[in-house]
Amino acid sequence: MNPLLKTALFWIITTVGLCVQAGDDIIVADFEGKDYGNWKVTGEAFGPGPAQGTLPGQMTVGGFQGHGLVNSFFHGDDTTGTLTSPPFKIERPYIRFLIGGGKNPDKTCMNLLVDGQVVRSATGPNDKAGGSEQLVADSWNVQDLIGKVAVVQIVDQAAGGWGHICVDDIAQTDHKPPGMLSNAKRPFFINQRYLNLPIKNGGPHRKVSISVTNGSEKQTLDLAKAIAQFGEGGLPVTNDIELADGEPDWWAPIDLSAYQGQTVIVEVDKIPENSTALSAIEPGNQIKGAEGLYHEPLRNQFHFSPKRGWNNDPNGMVLYRGEYHLFFQHNPYGWNWGNMHWGHAISRDMVHWTELGDVLAPDKFGPMFSGSAVVDWANTSGFGKPGNPAQVLLYTAAGDPTVQCLAFSTDGRHYHKYPDNPVVPQFTGGNRDPKVIWHEPTKKWVMTLYVETNRINTIHFLSSPDLKHWSLMSTVDGFFECPDFFELPVGGDSAHKKWVLTAASSEYMVGTFDGTRFTPETPKLKGHLGKGFYAAQTFSDIPAKDGRRIQIGWFQTETKGMPFNQGMTVPLELKLTSTSDGPRLTWTPVKELEKLRRYTHRYSPITLSEGAPNPLAKENIELVELRAEFVPNSTGSVTFTVRGATLVYDSRKRELTVNRLTVPAPLVGGQKQNLSVYCDRSGMEVFASGGRTYVPMPYIPKADDRKLAVQVTGGAVSFSQLTAYELKSAW
Ligand code: FRU
Repeated sequence: MNPLLKTALFWIITTVGLCVQAGDDIIVADFEGKDYGNWKVTGEAFGPGPAQGTLPGQMTVGGFQGHGLVNSFFHGDDTTGTLTSPPFKIERPYIRFLIGGGKNPDKTCMNLLVDGQVVRSATGPNDKAGGSEQLVADSWNVQDLIGKVAVVQIVDQAAGGWGHICVDDIAQTDHKPPGMLSNAKRPFFINQRYLNLPIKNGGPHRKVSISVTNGSEKQTLDLAKAIAQFGEGGLPVTNDIELADGEPDWWAPIDLSAYQGQTVIVEVDKIPENSTALSAIEPGNQIKGAEGLYHEPLRNQFHFSPKRGWNNDPNGMVLYRGEYHLFFQHNPYGWNWGNMHWGHAISRDMVHWTELGDVLAPDKFGPMFSGSAVVDWANTSGFGKPGNPAQVLLYTAAGDPTVQCLAFSTDGRHYHKYPDNPVVPQFTGGNRDPKVIWHEPTKKWVMTLYVETNRINTIHFLSSPDLKHWSLMSTVDGFFECPDFFELPVGGDSAHKKWVLTAASSEYMVGTFDGTRFTPETPKLKGHLGKGFYAAQTFSDIPAKDGRRIQIGWFQTETKGMPFNQGMTVPLELKLTSTSDGPRLTWTPVKELEKLRRYTHRYSPITLSEGAPNPLAKENIELVELRAEFVPNSTGSVTFTVRGATLVYDSRKRELTVNRLTVPAPLVGGQKQNLSVYCDRSGMEVFASGGRTYVPMPYIPKADDRKLAVQVTGGAVSFSQLTAYELKSAW
């Protein structure tokens, strides 16, 4: 051989060889193909090929690499099967992989087999309800097996809860994967308000427990607060938290004011040995990284949202001692749903809110799901004192069984869970969301509760003399989650009242209530006509002299990149208006919002014809309230542009299209149309047809698009009102 060629070949062989020896990982499988290639499949559980993430009916799967992964949730938990790799030679001292799903040794697992014998095995992390579909990094030390021929076998032989396994990214490696520490602990002497926990969105879920040591003599345990927060039996409480192993996305404060002067232990079930999750936890009197609090780019400025974490349903809405209380489903430690607590905010006008700390934390009965609040004026519960009625919270503890519980407060600041909880045992699993009212004619409490019986969604009506003892009165079919039940005058006539039963979707029925049974007089009617509005509830105990029924909905405004997620709608006044079809609900923004008007630019009266210049051309508004009232022409349209969103009123069809969503918008009094548009940083709400048409719409306008426009087609349109208001921030 030509010596030059020989040298070159030698160079190539040694260099390539060296590269391999220097430790390139050998990919066993990355599951990025459309099928399993030469892996062998038995049974049904693994489907026709790698899953592209989450499968139907599954919680969101995360933590895998690329697009595909092994996910044996194909056709649900009950399918079974195996997936076996072709034989390969073990050439590296470690095999690393990502694994998730059930923790059932032998049944939901991944095995390494040599000569047909299982020599290593791993499972997913979940063995009880709840949990997480997050894949986590795991590895085997296979130093002693180098040179052997092995196969990897992924096994799903389990049905029912967590009867599946997820696997991705299997590789042989020279690099010792960091070991996992179990039950890693760090003590903190508490002399500041918070511990700031580092959070990584989408990171592996860790079980984080907080407990108190009984070390020091001088400690004073605020038992009431401790019980309210952490439940009877006290600590520890465990939350499922995406703790950051390295650089966090944001910091979640855990309020430990009740533990001043004591030593608190933070314990994590499992973290890599090189994780900074525990060492990074920072005590402080401030929320770390919250310098720009309430001014974040996607923070709604006149809609409520919590300082940190996730919110869903409004809960416990009540006017108590001059303050509106808004509780809410809160994950204080995550950007997504989980760890359900009751967050708490108060306001004197429903516009300016002050968020206080969480009042209900998960306890031995389960996470704290939705519920309501009442003022116990007659002290039927005995929780109050003469002249100082208690505020009573009724909530779902969503453990197994799922039960209804009480908590109370006599100052609107400190909350105590009732020691004899629960007050309503489980009817069927998942029953939830008690909404309680005082029924004056029969002088008793009435609870509406969502219960699924024989696959039918029903609302159970219960009654109680004292909020503690409840008995079933009647049921109504056809409503799912978060019921609300209230009486309203029809057309403002207080001599002519009707009852409204509604639930999470905002559909409703109007009818009568005799103290025992609700008798509908309408079919189930559509509520809001927009998007991202759910699980609304109305305030209890607004005095008769005010007389309003005010609702707030969960406004599903997703705010990527922010340390908070979701929010609430503006407070909405509900009325029943008379129509030729019978009484119908209307939604209008509460008048208190007018306080936020900074500038008023009035253009009316004005008549616009097709092609007329945009009268709003000079506007440059970030927080918009736009109001218009006009007599439409007969065949044309009126189009409003609000910060990039378009709203088209079609005069012929009498329909309104908001960003491609078309809804009916009847005329008011047979001839006029009116429209109010509120546009905030992550959501917009549109009201038309005297409130009959309410279109909430999650929407993120471009920060620099602050333009407004109106134009008409067809004949001229005269506006009796055309006003643009610039709103102030409520924060
Ligand atoms: C509605 C809901 C409620 C439940 C709560 C849990 O959004 O599913 O039924 O109580 O959320 O967070």
